[in-house]
Amino acid sequence: MSKAYDIALENLTGAGARATVKPAPLPLRGISDAPADAKSFYIETFGCQMNDHDTEKVEGLLLARGYQAVATPAQASLVLYNTCSIREKAAQKVFSRIGDWKTLADGKIVGVLGCVAQQEGEDIFERAPWVSLVCGSASYTKLPDLLDQVEAGNKRVTGLSLDIDETFETELTRRDNRYRAYITIIEGCDYSCSYCVVPKTRGPERSRRSDSVLDEARRLADSGFTEIQLLGQTVNSYRDPSPRGMDFVGLLRAIADVPGVRRVRFTTSHPNDFHQGIIDAIDEVPALCDHIHLPVQSGSTRILKAMRRTYTRDEYLEKIAAIRAARRPISLTSDMIVGFPGETEDDFQDTLTLLAASQYDGVYSFKYSPRPNTPALSMDDAIPEEEKSRRLAALMDHQRQIQIARNDALIGQSFEVHVDGHNPQKKIWGGRTSCNRLLNFTSPLDTLLGTYVSVRVTRAGANSLFGEHAV
Ligand code: 5AD
Ligand code: SF4
Repeated sequence: MSKAYDIALENLTGAGARATVKPAPLPLRGISDAPADAKSFYIETFGCQMNDHDTEKVEGLLLARGYQAVATPAQASLVLYNTCSIREKAAQKVFSRIGDWKTLADGKIVGVLGCVAQQEGEDIFERAPWVSLVCGSASYTKLPDLLDQVEAGNKRVTGLSLDIDETFETELTRRDNRYRAYITIIEGCDYSCSYCVVPKTRGPERSRRSDSVLDEARRLADSGFTEIQLLGQTVNSYRDPSPRGMDFVGLLRAIADVPGVRRVRFTTSHPNDFHQGIIDAIDEVPALCDHIHLPVQSGSTRILKAMRRTYTRDEYLEKIAAIRAARRPISLTSDMIVGFPGETEDDFQDTLTLLAASQYDGVYSFKYSPRPNTPALSMDDAIPEEEKSRRLAALMDHQRQIQIARNDALIGQSFEVHVDGHNPQKKIWGGRTSCNRLLNFTSPLDTLLGTYVSVRVTRAGANSLFGEHAV
């Protein structure tokens, strides 16, 4: 999926005020000006949080092999692109990047990882003969061997099998954020939404053993991470493959119990696997964050059927009602696609009324993009581009008004913020609430990074809040 996994409210629907505080830069662990003869790498990542985290793992693997990270692709002996093909634009960007090395790749190893690699396969070598490695995410367990081959000078090295039941685990993972760590608990997807490339690019669903997930959570907590974000394309479809047989809720509760873990998030949930047990766990366990990302995609039952989403509008709204009935307020975000083939004005109006009924705190909205090897590609009644744009703008406007009203209602309330950003010039700190809102604030204190503080909201925009540290 796309960046949708990062429920960064400042990036959600509505132009809104952008965050004024950037997350604190990490010390460039492992980044150096490598001597010309040293093995060095540069990875550019496109797409979703799953990709971001895959990159962290690949970086760990490369560091363990003696590579050094460098700050620009020009300095690197190995340049990798971890790619996304969820929409056409994302895929096009990758080809323009690879094109940069047409005349400059001499002596450099250029590789394509991720969804475009899986989708285009060996065709990439035809289009860009200077690329020597093409590997989809389902084959990352084979990367050490594939890297041996490219390092030995082999061209056209591929990892394209989808017939893999392991998950990708590494001894060493480089962490981009020093406060919040990702753990992938389930890879691939067994749904078959008619617009989506993921089942073909990431392969069938594979859950990771609960003992391995819990070991990683303990190691992260021991090394100072207090917030853990569980990742999966359909994270709540998790089923422990080990004899312990934990379900998703069992795993959530067990991770929240790990000493040192203060916050647990998870994304993306599929409505079909979303049930009361998850809401009860959030109600009962303070460490489980009060935020759920539950993509609906469309408000029209007719379009949901054509999308093969496996639920109707009413069934989805029943889940929303159950979430709203929770004892603590739970923030809700969603993904929406406009302009799916055959979407009439009435269908689109259903989407707008669903927005009003769901009262989301943020929505990632997209124009339908036809993708290769997906059932929707051959559907009739394509919606013209201008009409898709009109619907997208109307949806965003609608949602922006909802967010303004919802955020306004928070003025005067206090929230616990996990501080991860600081703008020393403006003397502003920033971080996330448990409900995943971005909250920027002033404070009389000057060492707050990584801590949890109580902040009273004094102002609200469509996409972020502003407040004062209540010392
Ligand atoms: N066109 C537009 N949006 C898409 N998404 C997935 N496939 C497509 C497509 N072909 C969106 C869905 C998904 C999000 C990550 O990307 O809304 O939830
Ligand atoms: Fe794609 Fe649907 Fe699977 Fe999500 S659930 S990754 S949209 S096929």
